[in-house]
This record gives sequence, C-alpha cells and structure tokens, in this order.
Amino acid sequence: MDRTVKVISKNFKKYNVESIDEYIKLGGFSALKKAFDLGPKGIINELKISDLKGRGGAAFPTGKKWEQATKVPGDRKIIICNADEGEPATFKDRYLLEYDPFKVIEGMTIAGITFNANEGFIYIREEYKYLHDKFKKAIQLTKENNYLGQNILNTGFNFDITVFSGAGAYVCGESTALIESIEGKSGRPRLKLARTSEKGLYDLPTLANNIETLAAVATILEIGGEEYAKYGTKNSKGTKLISLCGNINKPGAYEVPFGITLKEIIYDIGGGVKNGNALKFLQLGGASGPIVPASMIDLKYCYNELNANGINIGSGAILVADETNKVVDFLKSVQDFFLHESCGKCTPCREGNRQITKIINRFVNDEASIEDLKTIEKFANVMKYASFCGLGKTAPTALLSAIKHFPIEFYQHIKTVRKTS
Ligand SMILES: Cc1cc2nc3c(=O)[nH]c(=O)nc-3n(C[C@H](O)[C@H](O)[C@H](O)COP(=O)(O)O)c2cc1C
Ligand code: SF4
Repeated sequence: MDRTVKVISKNFKKYNVESIDEYIKLGGFSALKKAFDLGPKGIINELKISDLKGRGGAAFPTGKKWEQATKVPGDRKIIICNADEGEPATFKDRYLLEYDPFKVIEGMTIAGITFNANEGFIYIREEYKYLHDKFKKAIQLTKENNYLGQNILNTGFNFDITVFSGAGAYVCGESTALIESIEGKSGRPRLKLARTSEKGLYDLPTLANNIETLAAVATILEIGGEEYAKYGTKNSKGTKLISLCGNINKPGAYEVPFGITLKEIIYDIGGGVKNGNALKFLQLGGASGPIVPASMIDLKYCYNELNANGINIGSGAILVADETNKVVDFLKSVQDFFLHESCGKCTPCREGNRQITKIINRFVNDEASIEDLKTIEKFANVMKYASFCGLGKTAPTALLSAIKHFPIEFYQHIKTVRKTS
C-alpha cells in the first residue's frame, strides 16, 4: 500500500515553475492572503494548532519560536530561509527549490508578516547552482505580480528576498555560521550571547528557518492548522519530507505522515532492499545521525517513538545499508566527511575527528587493538559534550550508535582477537 501523502509536496511536478499563473491556479498565494487577514497572532495560532516543528534538525516548535521572536523590538528585521542542505544523504529541500519555489517565497513572506521584517535572504546550497537563477526568476515573477516587493497586494507591507549562494561547507548550514557567511566572513559558528531572533544578521533581529519549515507554514495557512494536524500521531502531527537512498530499490524524496513505520518506508515506499539482500542497518538524519539496526524497523517514524529510542529524525534522510556493508567501512566514510568538514575552530571537534579517523582506519585495516575501541568511545563522548557547535557534537553519533548495536563488528577487526579466533 502506498502510504505517501501529498500535502507539502502537492505541487511537485504539477506546474511549470516559470509560470506564476499555473501556481495561482493550484491555490498559490491563498495562504499569503490569509496571512494578511490573520495577522501575526492568528498566524502563530494556526502554527500552534498544526504542531509544526522545525524541519532543520532540532525540531523546535515553530509556533513557539515565532511567538518568542515577535516579542523582539526593532525597526529593521530579517528573515532567513536555510536551503543549504549540506547533510549527506539529504536532498528533499532541493525538491522544494526545484518544484515549488513560489511556495517557499510565500512561506518566507508570511514569516516577514509575522516578524514584521521587510528583508529576506535565502541561502541556497552552492552545489545547487543550477537552481539559483531559477529561484531568482521566481522572485522576479512574484514581484511583477505584486505578491512580493513594495506594497504587497496593496496592504502597505513591503518584503523583498535576496538569493545568497552557500559557501560550499557543511557547517554553513548551522544558522550562526550561515549568518557569518552572508556577512562575508568565513563561515564558522558564532558564540551565541543572544538569541538569533535578537541579534542575528548584521546584529539585527533575525528569524531563521529551514526551507521545509517555511513551505510547511504556507501549506498550513492554506489548508488550516487543524487539517494539517490530522496527519501523523497524537504527539507528532503532520507530515515530513524524507530522502530515501542507499541500497534501496526506489530511492527518492517522498512525503510521509508521521507514525508510518520504518519498515513501511523501506519496503512499501522504497520497494525493499536492492538485489533482494537483507537489510543490515539504516542511518537516519544524514551523516550526523545514528545507525539503526534492522531489528528496530518496526519503530514508528515520529519524534516521540524515535527519541525514546535515542534516535533523531534530523534532516529526514534515511540511508539504507544491506548485509554486504561492513560497519567499520561505513564509519570510515562518515569520519572522512567530518574530518573534511570540521571548521577547526574548537579543539574537541578538530582533534577528535582527526584522532577518531586514524583509529577507524586501523579497524578498517584489521590493525586495531582493544585499547583503540576504548579510546574512540572516550574521544567520541568528549566530542559529543565539549564541541562548540552541533557539527562536532553530532559527528560521533554514528560511531557511538554503531558501538552500541554492532560491538562484535569492531572486535572482528581487532588484531589480537583475529589471531586467537
Ligand atoms: C553543522 C550543522 C549543519 C546544519 N545544516 C542545516 C541545513 O543545511 N539546513 C537547515 O535548515 N538547518 C541546518 N542546521 C540547523 C540550523 O542551525 C537551524 O537549527 C535550523 O535551520 C533552524 O530552522 P528550523 O527551526 O526551521 O528547524 C544545521 C545545524 C548544524 C549544527
Ligand atoms: S564543533 Fe567543529 S565545526 Fe563546530 S566550531 Fe568546533 S571545529 Fe568548528
């Protein structure tokens, strides 16, 4: 049974993105009109009813975040749409850019109305260069039709959007590093002495959200918070865009209701494991996410059940690894990524990644010792608790979960164990 849904993704491949009229025919900009009627309080109320949580990884309730933000005073405020999408195995935000740019523009403008901001920035992954101009074109069309720019729909409200290219570094997706990058500095996370909503881009009050969150906002206003909340479970309402990849028959971006099981995602939506092989593990949420053994695939894909099992939904990536994958080889690719992407600002992440990579290589080459296993676990925990930003804190997640679920695989690569067995 196909359990995918088309709520946020309902317009994907349904219209020509160079035609704003086609978008309007699909109900486009009805959310924006509603937003003007509702005003900031009404918008926030709909978001609270919908139970939308930030889709950038941390899952902070959007209604609450926006409510706190509206209390920040200021004459000049900024909206940022985070479309950096640097997390490995994650490609669902690309679908929003490619197949529904007007909805993203609508969501950003609604954020502007709520936060009383007149300037928006969309930070698009550098590798999605082919989409930068397409998005600029969508902005231009929206302006020409008075849904963006000066005096939008004759309401007196002004809002404009600037496209900014990502800097090609994973860490630039972290909101303070992203802000540094837009400011023209090297994209490294900032020491946060105040909330971004108080002191963000150019030290101005800034509301930053993930692109899927903003597209969901437009959808929620279009259909109503209550309607959106009908999808999902009691504690994880709504739907999620996921990107399914790895050893799977039907990789791709899909939209699912929360509460679907991992098994249904892999077998009913993804068509099962490639070549009829057995499933070994999943990695949820990209390289920074945990490894989930096949024995756990009856778990429901929702915040509560996964969190209760130490798993985060993160970016929405689901990578499938079959029985032919060695855990240590997989961890090597994860480690190589983090070693490359660590910005080097803090010691636990910079040195931790370097040392863990060296040790993982010894496991890959069957040259590890028992002491090595103890050392990587110790280093991983130091990184988790002492790193300056989320990159270093989550870089060892895959390793720690692999040690928990696949301890024997590490022992199989320890020299002395191999000799005696
Ligand atoms: C290393 C790192 C990379 C990140 N990359 C992204 C990204 O590509 N896109 C994104 O929306 N959020 C990313 N985030 C999360 C953002 O910092 C931020 O929490 C999010 O954009 C907030 O939006 P939300 O409330 O809509 O989830 C990243 C965080 C870290 C630590
Ligand atoms: S945790 Fe890593 S990416 Fe983050 S500031 Fe430290 S070195 Fe840079």
